[in-house]
Amino acid sequence: MEKNIGVGRALGKIILMGEHAVVYGQPALALPFPAVETKAFISKRPGPVQLDCIYYKDELVKAPDILLGLSEMVKGIVEAYGEKLEGFEIRIESTIPPERGLGSSAAVALATSRALYKYFNKPLSYEDQIKWAGVSEKIVHGNPSGIDSATIGGEEALYYIKGQPFQSFEMKLDGYLLVADSGRKGQTKEAVSSLRAWIEDNPVEGEGLIKELGDLARLSKEAVENNQLEVLGQAMNQAHEILDRLGVSDPGLNQLVGQARKEGALGAKLTGGGRGGAIIALVKNKEDGLKIGAKLKDAGARNTWIYNLRDGKDDK
Ligand code: PMV
Repeated sequence: MEKNIGVGRALGKIILMGEHAVVYGQPALALPFPAVETKAFISKRPGPVQLDCIYYKDELVKAPDILLGLSEMVKGIVEAYGEKLEGFEIRIESTIPPERGLGSSAAVALATSRALYKYFNKPLSYEDQIKWAGVSEKIVHGNPSGIDSATIGGEEALYYIKGQPFQSFEMKLDGYLLVADSGRKGQTKEAVSSLRAWIEDNPVEGEGLIKELGDLARLSKEAVENNQLEVLGQAMNQAHEILDRLGVSDPGLNQLVGQARKEGALGAKLTGGGRGGAIIALVKNKEDGLKIGAKLKDAGARNTWIYNLRDGKDDK
């Protein structure tokens, strides 16, 4: 039975450690980021399915390439339900800045699949939600590890290894993460493919650095579980240097990371795909987060958030 409206929502995510290395089978740590979220609204509307979002407002099937992942996912779900691709409108509202490595594309996919399921009043299991988000992410990102969909789908801190069952972990750190949006779009797809080419040209160094990122993620999991702020901060610093060496940072991100450290952060690194997007900095308390966040804004960051690593809540 069709209802008049279906609403779905999904949070953002932060990769604490292990981005890029996770594509090569190394572990990564990712956290749900409730300070930002995406909502999808589906309502009755005669004619071909319409899409209304910041990028585009018109027929879904004519949407530009950047929305191809979403439109293919919607087609797939509607077909799997035995319904027709007509008679409704999808409206997306989001506070997740797009293309910043904060999970916008996976959140749009998950919020939309959840809204479709409510609109058509048909079941969509957790596994299916992740699967459909994966269909969209594959088109958007090329060859995603699946970490974004898994973290956003489950809304739990995850120790993620591609192809293995999801493992949640407890955050027991008395500290805060400062998240800063550089204001520039990240380039995950390009960063992932150029890193692949670089590793092919430099296999010994490349594979060694990827393995080091994996070791740092393993160490960081222990640090998070044992409340070792300094250990985590140093691991973040080392991970950033490696990501920079691998060519997925850029001068703007390096500047924000350097500034955060200079102002007293215990560690700082890029988060997500890089080459634009966002950075994270580990700080002892909320006051430090606010102070350093203001400095990062002076240095050009568009927006900042403070994230309590004890309970994962946004503390803005
Ligand atoms: O979507 P982003 O920008 O957070 O990137 C995801 C993390 C990568 O490891 C760079 C890619 C992937 O598929 O895991």
